[in-house]
Amino acid sequence: MDINQLRTDFPFLEHHQGLIYLDNAASTQKPRVVLDAMREFYERSYANVHRGAYRLSVDASTRYEDARKQVKTFFNAEEAVFVRNATEALNLAAYGLTQSLSPGDSILISEMEHHANLVPWQQLSKRYGFKLLYTSITPDGYLDLGHYSELLREKPKIVALSHCSNVLGTINPVAELCRAAKEIGAVTVIDGAQAAPHLSVDLNAIGCDLYAVSSHKMLGPTGVGALLGTQKTFLSLPPFNFGGDMIETVTKTDSTFNTVPHRFEAGTPDAAGVIGFAAALGYLQSQTMAEVRSHEVALTSLALQLLSEIPSLSVYGPKKAEDKSGAIAFNLTGVHPHDLSGYLDSFKICVRSGNHCAQPLMTALGIPYSCRASFYLYNTESEVRLLAEKILEAKRFFGA
Ligand code: ALA
Repeated sequence: MDINQLRTDFPFLEHHQGLIYLDNAASTQKPRVVLDAMREFYERSYANVHRGAYRLSVDASTRYEDARKQVKTFFNAEEAVFVRNATEALNLAAYGLTQSLSPGDSILISEMEHHANLVPWQQLSKRYGFKLLYTSITPDGYLDLGHYSELLREKPKIVALSHCSNVLGTINPVAELCRAAKEIGAVTVIDGAQAAPHLSVDLNAIGCDLYAVSSHKMLGPTGVGALLGTQKTFLSLPPFNFGGDMIETVTKTDSTFNTVPHRFEAGTPDAAGVIGFAAALGYLQSQTMAEVRSHEVALTSLALQLLSEIPSLSVYGPKKAEDKSGAIAFNLTGVHPHDLSGYLDSFKICVRSGNHCAQPLMTALGIPYSCRASFYLYNTESEVRLLAEKILEAKRFFGA
């Protein structure tokens, strides 16, 4: 992968010369092929999908369904339902799966979850009387596998875990976790929002029932995500949203529903977004996920080494680059992360600061907030070096 060449594929990076974008766990920049695919669809091929018998609409539907096939192939998934984002995918999973639970049943998640894979289970548990169990994390930011096995003895009906932490970058051994969950008969849901952009994700190899992804975190447009999974799981789920396109017949008193996946896609979908998402996956495929991963491991490894040399800087989570996606959380002692990120911003370095939509994780780490730098395929070693250099300067500037 020639990074300098690759960077010219991104109009945003061309436009913002000198800007160092290190907030890829929040969202990613878009290559020209994604923008072109969406523009071409709107300018030349646009019509609503699944509705018209006229040529243009049929062609638009074909492109939408071709994009679905591409998504399924990319993730080796039996089925893909398009939604707005990973959050909506996880809500679909949570609302659907909990309908067959009874008060007193357990759901197992972890302390490491993004709010998207925590609040839906928590609120439904409060509403219907389910017991929500949390796998703890170890002090170095891994899932506590011993505690996980212990909690499985409580026979949770659903196990819902993140593939990668959005804060610490920890890559969880999801295939192993799903295998253990299956042994006690639990349904497994994986939040893949932070893993899918960085790892080769093969649903069949992971063996989960459902897996949530988001387009905008992997070079695609905002407003599109997918819930992936097995046919069997989707056939067992009730519809989530009701309305047009998700039905088969409607009378004044009742309705029957469309086939999977359409019964989960009520209303006009974001067809242009889905086409853009497929173009993003095509772009990643052309780079190969193996190359993307090895570039990110090199960047993460360099960052971990340089940041570890800065006195008064605490770095949270695993210290081995191979165990992480490209996200690193850190704090400079005595400096509020918003101040540190503001200082870095004055040198055009973008990092996220705050609680990262993972408040229970921050509590487990014993900190209220942190800065987070997160890398992607277009970041360079010199950007990582500049990040470390400016953090060191910030330490002097703030007298930390
Ligand atoms: N979930 C995104 C993040 O971690 C927004 O920043």
